[in-house]
Amino acid sequence: MSRLLLVTGDPEYDTHFRKAVQGRLPGEVQTVFSTSLPATPDELLGRSVGELPTAVVLGPGVDLYEAMRLVGVFDIQRPEVSLVLVVPADMSLAVAALRAGFRDVLDMDADSDGILSLLSRVCDAAASRRWAMPQGAVVAGTSYGMPSTPRDDTRVIVVTSPKGGVGKTTVATNLAVGLGAIAPMNTVIIDLDVQFGDVGAALRLAPEHSLTEAVTGPAVDDALVLKTFLTVHPASIYALCTPANPAEGELVGAAQIARLIEQLSGQFQYVVVDTAPGLGEHALAALEAATDVVFVTGMDVPGVRGLRKEMDLLGEMSMVPEHVSVVVNAADRNTGLSVKDIEATIRTPVDHVVPRSRMAAYATNRGEPLLLHAPKDKAARQLQGIVDSFAPARPAAKKGIHRKAMVRS
Ligand SMILES: Nc1ncnc2c1ncn2[C@@H]1O[C@H](COP(=O)(O)OP(=O)(O)OP(=O)(O)O)[C@@H](O)[C@H]1O
Ligand SMILES: [Mg+2]
Repeated sequence: MSRLLLVTGDPEYDTHFRKAVQGRLPGEVQTVFSTSLPATPDELLGRSVGELPTAVVLGPGVDLYEAMRLVGVFDIQRPEVSLVLVVPADMSLAVAALRAGFRDVLDMDADSDGILSLLSRVCDAAASRRWAMPQGAVVAGTSYGMPSTPRDDTRVIVVTSPKGGVGKTTVATNLAVGLGAIAPMNTVIIDLDVQFGDVGAALRLAPEHSLTEAVTGPAVDDALVLKTFLTVHPASIYALCTPANPAEGELVGAAQIARLIEQLSGQFQYVVVDTAPGLGEHALAALEAATDVVFVTGMDVPGVRGLRKEMDLLGEMSMVPEHVSVVVNAADRNTGLSVKDIEATIRTPVDHVVPRSRMAAYATNRGEPLLLHAPKDKAARQLQGIVDSFAPARPAAKKGIHRKAMVRS
């Protein structure tokens, strides 16, 4: 017995579809007449009556963009329900739909026999999948495949500085890209410079969604919906950029940021946070959840003094995360200030010194982080050192086993 849920804005297609399957495929068909889709699978499935459908067919009229977004969540939350997209005769759209996670695509012009044969195949495959699933996994109203306990090894790394223009975004974006090589698709960068954030520009992204959508609506209650609002960068990282309108960013509150970081740290191994200069409410909300802080300073007296004050203030508020590192960026011998002078002022060792490099500014302007654009550049090597300091510790080599291997060879 198969239960089919058709979603379409086209009553004629509904008639055609029903004629093709009713009485020819055991089971029943229900139709939702709509062109827009809800944000979560369960909201959509909730529109059908009775048991969970075997397959959901997104028919003509349905918003394709929403369909592509929903399918990613469907596959994780409801793998037992097959999602089929009805597409016009367009090979590239069909391929895009299958890549996005649809189980199958149905030609919009398919005749009755075509519809029947495709849906029989889809329903058979769904039945075998359900059979193979752990018992009790297929329960209406319950998410399947969602991690029940959030991961506890996440590093939340906040990049901060008291002054502007010292290289926070440069450090944060390169760090994220470098961590993407260590933890592909398990690293996310969040831009918390809510008014004038430029992570999107530094990574040359054209985000379809921004921070605002990630901290309002259905994303707040569902980390998988939240994930659909992130933008993927080719370096195998996700990014959450600021809204294009600075006024919109200002509407985001500290509590929303706290919730956002809580959700992302349940899903990702590395959460890198870029911030606006100083300790605004968003930076403080991030620092409260941070495991690591990276302080960035240039080689100038006001900047270094500002950093000392920022460190003192965080100490007074008991908000210094477990791991602290200090980066001196755009380092230059001709400033009259040495790294030793900086360490004496901030009373903390400097961990990384990133030299001034023409390539750094060039990379920013191209929207390609230095680690990707010019990995051999002198500044890139130091940025890579920052990345390496966050790599999981390698287990020590087992000498005995190694020796045995050598004897055998
Ligand atoms: N090591 C470096 N050598 C030369 N230029 C650099 C270096 N690091 C960063 N820059 C350049 O300095 C400028 C400011 O850098 P960035 O945007 O990273 O600073 P920021 O601290 O994020 O600034 P803001 O506070 O405005 O967000 C950019 O044009 C960047 O390319
Ligand atoms: Mg910045």
